[in-house]
Amino acid sequence: MSGKTVLITGCSTGFGKLAAKTFQQRGWNVAATMRSPEKETELCELENVKVIRLDVTDDASVNTAVAETIETFGDIDVLVNNAGYGGHGMFEQFSQAHINNMFDTNVFGCMRTARAVLPHMREKQSGTIINVTSMAGVLGLPFNTTYSSSKFAVEGWSEGLAMELSPFSIKVKTVAPGAFGTSFNANTDNSVEEGDEALVAQAQVMTNHFVTLSEQMTNIGGEPANPQDVADMIYNCATEEMPVHNVVGNDANMLLEQKNSKSSQEFIDYLEAMLIPGAV
Ligand SMILES: NC(=O)c1ccc[n+]([C@@H]2O[C@H](COP(=O)([O-])OP(=O)(O)OC[C@H]3O[C@@H](n4cnc5c(N)ncnc54)[C@H](OP(=O)(O)O)[C@@H]3O)[C@@H](O)[C@H]2O)c1
Repeated sequence: MSGKTVLITGCSTGFGKLAAKTFQQRGWNVAATMRSPEKETELCELENVKVIRLDVTDDASVNTAVAETIETFGDIDVLVNNAGYGGHGMFEQFSQAHINNMFDTNVFGCMRTARAVLPHMREKQSGTIINVTSMAGVLGLPFNTTYSSSKFAVEGWSEGLAMELSPFSIKVKTVAPGAFGTSFNANTDNSVEEGDEALVAQAQVMTNHFVTLSEQMTNIGGEPANPQDVADMIYNCATEEMPVHNVVGNDANMLLEQKNSKSSQEFIDYLEAMLIPGAV
């Protein structure tokens, strides 16, 4: 039994719930945080798991959840910033309010939780922060530009933070998944009906294309991408010597290989041909 403690955000579904179970099975204390703990049953029944309310957009909620975790388990060794959601649509279809909301969750949510745990980690001169980003934070993803920019922000912030915190022996890692069949698509902000006729028409073309592409990407390698691989990667980042940036998924690895083997413009041309119907 490790006896160590992890706090994970967004544990109601998907990677967050799987990660909570993965750490628990390997002997960790788990603060499985979520917006609506009253709806959770499965995690509540597990030994050494405490289900705690935490909305990453709310400072008070973050601070209370961190304090409750330390009070319950005495420590936080690892913070996993997993909570987040996607956004489909042409850039102009996203109102500023939608963009602000997405950044408040995907970017400022990670910063809020890190700000809350860092004094504790600095004091004990150890700890790991793992930020779940996306392949959309490694390459610019059309039709997802709001989401993509939020995940790029977290990748850049994490890289700088990893260096900044090394004198305190605190590690920072990113886990960038490709496409996986969680509740992610159902929870995505679809702004495809907004704006003028031309935008809505192009959004329809892109939606059709992305539905097919996303199916192909999820099945690269012959079988559906397994979300447990992401939970395992998060666990590895908490327990093994890992680089700052980590991608997971056959599609993500294939795209990273392409990115690394081409010039920046060649890679953009390659992506455009793949992602934009009718691109020349
Ligand atoms: N699945 C993929 O293909 C994929 C690919 C790349 C990256 N990702 C990233 O992986 C992470 C997890 O996504 P997933 O695939 O597991 O999707 P998911 O099943 O939709 O899970 C997202 C989780 O985030 C939570 N959440 C959303 N807003 C929150 C807030 N303000 N405060 C606290 N929790 C909040 C949701 O809680 P509620 O139940 O309360 O809504 C849910 O638990 C996200 O950061 C996502 O961007 C996913």
